[in-house]
Amino acid sequence: MADNKAKLTIAETSVDLDVLSPTLGSKVIDIRTLGSKGYYTYDPGFTSTASCESKITFIDGDNGILLHRGFPIGQLATESTYLEVCYILLYGEAPTQEQYDKFKTTVTRHTMIHEQITRLFHGFRRDSHPMAVLCGVTGALAAFYHDALDVSNPVHRDITAYRLLSKMPTVAAMCYKYSIGQPFVYPKNDLSYAGNFLHMMFATPCEEYVVNPVLERAMDRIFILHADHEQNASTSTVRTAGSSGANPFACIAAGIASLWGPAHGGANEACLRMLEEIKTVEHIPEFIKRAKDKNDSFRLMGFGHRVYKNYDPRATVMRETCHEVLKELNLNDSLLEVAMELERIALNDPYFIEKKLYPNVDFYSGIILKALGIPSNMFTVIFAIARTIGWIAHWNEMHEDGLKIARPRQLYTGYDEREFKSEIKKK
Ligand code: SDX
Repeated sequence: MADNKAKLTIAETSVDLDVLSPTLGSKVIDIRTLGSKGYYTYDPGFTSTASCESKITFIDGDNGILLHRGFPIGQLATESTYLEVCYILLYGEAPTQEQYDKFKTTVTRHTMIHEQITRLFHGFRRDSHPMAVLCGVTGALAAFYHDALDVSNPVHRDITAYRLLSKMPTVAAMCYKYSIGQPFVYPKNDLSYAGNFLHMMFATPCEEYVVNPVLERAMDRIFILHADHEQNASTSTVRTAGSSGANPFACIAAGIASLWGPAHGGANEACLRMLEEIKTVEHIPEFIKRAKDKNDSFRLMGFGHRVYKNYDPRATVMRETCHEVLKELNLNDSLLEVAMELERIALNDPYFIEKKLYPNVDFYSGIILKALGIPSNMFTVIFAIARTIGWIAHWNEMHEDGLKIARPRQLYTGYDEREFKSEIKKK
């Protein structure tokens, strides 16, 4: 795909580098030969680095565009279902009815987990953060499903994809039930993916729990909006872990660990906490002031993005869903009023305009999840359920493209060589 060249001149040395052209987005300079000439590029946080080639998701941050295998997120969120989006992310094309039915049946039939895994939960304190439990149990799945862990075998990769996609909601709901001391609820094969999750979260043995179709649709749409997002921190973590040939359960557990951070998937929980701390519209100016103060580490959670320098298209859909859910539940959440006013003020503030800080996917999701009855410490768990398909799709693509272990170099600024003299008296 090299359609022109770049010339890098350092002192007397000059190096010709290929410039590779994408289907959409920025061209990339192929620097793979630089290392052999003794030069490395320096880019902490990878602000200017393309770590791989991918066909899964495209983001145009300046224009607020997000495509999954070419399909715009706005159309997928309103016209599709999460399982259909999973098929698209995994296999690259929209499924026929027959392909979809087969996919859905297979996912539905793998939602139960090995009964012995339920005992793993009892090793955790009840007040453990659900993300800690999810991370631990997901990694442990490799101890139970080791019959298809040859990562070089595409059939094994497909089986593991189904297992992870199917079992993540079950394990996630178990994290919640364990934290509130309620019995685990088994999956029900006659429910949809989102409906089954809500049932496992909120049903009890004492009475029938009927899934509200509006909430079920909202949950499914939240899953769609969080399904994949190119080379974000957690997906890059999954790719790096997988580059050593590690098993997919370990790789997904690594992705969960990375997603947990407040700068990434933990932002939805942090954003709701921030809105609760702001409490009323009158307090907003004080928090905006703090967010702009270089000496204050406070940031407006749910605002800003490494790639989007425009509205996050997911936030737009999330905002509409937020209004639908609150209307359906006849809720008048004062936090929504604070969120709307905070958004209005921030979007008109020169600091946020100049730095191109817009609401991101996490800004409204917390309010919807709270309205669905989900506690804030489960918000990032919901994100992890949805993002599992994105992590798997990228992990799979990396294997299909040929594995190369991720091993970056560094700019070393430590000591020069020096002689070691121990001060310690050896026994
Ligand atoms: C997700 O990558 C993905 O795709 C992630 C994600 C996905 O789907 O996987 O989209 C999900 O993680 C969304 C982001 C959720 N995080 C938050 O909402 C946390 C708050 N946001 C910030 O922490 C921040 O905006 C990041 C981490 C999201 C992006 O940080 P960058 O790209 O490294 O930018 P930066 O930190 O260098 O900020 C640039 C400037 C800085 O000011 P200067 O040093 O240039 O003076 O903008 C300021 C920052 O101080 N800034 C903010 C701000 N975000 C950036 N100031 C106040 N409030 C904020 N939220």
